[in-house]
Amino acid sequence: MYGITGYSNGYHQNQQQHSAEEKRGGGRRRRGGRRSRHPPGFRVSDHHHYHYNNDDDDDKQEQKAPPPCTDFDMAYFHSYAHVGIHEEMIKVVMDVGCGTGILSIFCAQAGAKRVYAVDASDIALQANEVVKANNLAEKIIVLHGRVEDVEIDEEVDVIISEWMGYMLLYESMLGSVITARDRWLKHGGLILPSNATLYMAPITHPDRYNDSIEFWRNVYGIDMSAMLQLAKQCAFEEPCVETITGENVLTWPHVVKHVDCYTIQHNELESVSTRYKFQSMMRAPLHGFAFWFDVEFNGPTNSPTNNHIPSLLTGASNNNHIDGIQKKKRANPNEALVLSTAPEDPPTHWQQTLIYFYDPIEVEQDQIIEGSLTLSQSKENRRFMNIHLEYSSGGRSYVKESVMR
Ligand SMILES: C[S@@+](CC[C@H](N)C(=O)[O-])C[C@H]1O[C@@H](n2cnc3c(N)ncnc32)[C@H](O)[C@@H]1O
Repeated sequence: MYGITGYSNGYHQNQQQHSAEEKRGGGRRRRGGRRSRHPPGFRVSDHHHYHYNNDDDDDKQEQKAPPPCTDFDMAYFHSYAHVGIHEEMIKVVMDVGCGTGILSIFCAQAGAKRVYAVDASDIALQANEVVKANNLAEKIIVLHGRVEDVEIDEEVDVIISEWMGYMLLYESMLGSVITARDRWLKHGGLILPSNATLYMAPITHPDRYNDSIEFWRNVYGIDMSAMLQLAKQCAFEEPCVETITGENVLTWPHVVKHVDCYTIQHNELESVSTRYKFQSMMRAPLHGFAFWFDVEFNGPTNSPTNNHIPSLLTGASNNNHIDGIQKKKRANPNEALVLSTAPEDPPTHWQQTLIYFYDPIEVEQDQIIEGSLTLSQSKENRRFMNIHLEYSSGGRSYVKESVMR
C-alpha cells in the first residue's frame, strides 16, 4: 500500500516499467548540476550522452577518427573512479511532510534516483500535479498519507523534512521524522536538517509594551487605565510570534534544547526542561523572553560511515551543543550549512516567539535573571505546547503558565 487513501502517482502500478527503464540506463541519466566537473571539450547532449565537442564543421573528416585520450580525459575518468560520485547519483530520498513537493523537486534536481514525497494533507494532490508538470513523475513518488501509516518497500539514504514549528517544537512534527528514520533510514544515512537548537534570551521591548498596554492610560485625554489588566491578558497571555531585532536582546542566549535528529527519541520530546541564569548586559525594563532556533545540515556525527558527506553539505560541524550552556555566536559560520531564525539574522516566517511578562521588571546592568522553563506536549492535543516559566530577578519571583495552540 502506498498511502492510506490509496492515492499515488502510479509508482506501484508502474514498478515493472521502472525497473526495465533503469536497466536500459534511464536511472543513470546525467544531471546538469555536475556539468562543472566536465573537462573542457565535453558537453551534455539532449540525449544525455557524452560527446566530444568539436564544433568545427570543416573538420568532419577528422571527427571519424576517435579523439586522442588527453590528460583531461584521464582526469575525467579518474574522477568517476571515486565511489562517492556514484553514491551521490543513486540516492533514495524521503521527504517527510512534502507539502507542495518543492523540497522533493530540489532533491530530484540534485540527482536523487528516487524521492518518496509523503504528506497526510490533501496538499499531496497538488504536489503530485506539480511533480507531473515538471516531468519528474518517474522519480518522485507522492504518497498521500501519514508517515506513520504509509508503506514503502526499500530503505532510504536521505530523509529531508521541514518539520520545525514556532519555538522549534510547536506542532510536534519532529516525532514523525523520528518515525521515518526508525522505519526506513539506512545505516549511516543522512537526515536533513541534522540537528536543531532552541535558544532563549531576556528581552526589552518598550515600544511593544507601550503600544499594547501603556496606550490605555490616556486615550485622547481619557483615563482608560481600567483597561490595563484586560489589555495585559489579551496581549500577553499566550506566546506571541513577532519579529524583534538584536537590539531587543539583553544577554547572550541560553540553549534550551539541542536536538540531534540522528539520535533523538520520542520520549525526549514529551517534556523539555531547563534551568537558566542570565546576567543583563544593560540597564533596561525586562519585558519577557524571546525564543528562536537554528538548524544545521550535517552528517551523522558518530557514524563510522560519515567519512563521505555528500557535496551538498559544506562539512561537519565541531560545535559542541550542551543543553543549558549559554551559546555565543558560531565561531565559524561556514562550518556547516545553518538556517538561523535569530533576531540578529534576516527574518524568516518563523520570526521569534515572545513570552511577555504582564509587568516589566527594571533590571540594572549585571543584574541576574534566573529561573526554569518546561515545555511539554499538551495532553489535550500533542501538537499544542504547554509552557511553564519561572523567573526571578531583583529578589522577586514569578511564575507564568501559557499554552501555544
Ligand atoms: C511545514 S509544512 C512543510 C511543507 C514542505 N516540506 C515545504 O517545505 O514547503 C509540513 C507538512 O508536513 C505535513 N505533515 C505533518 N505531519 C505529517 C505526518 N505525520 N505525515 C505526513 N505528513 C505530515 C503537513 O501536512 C504539512 O504539509
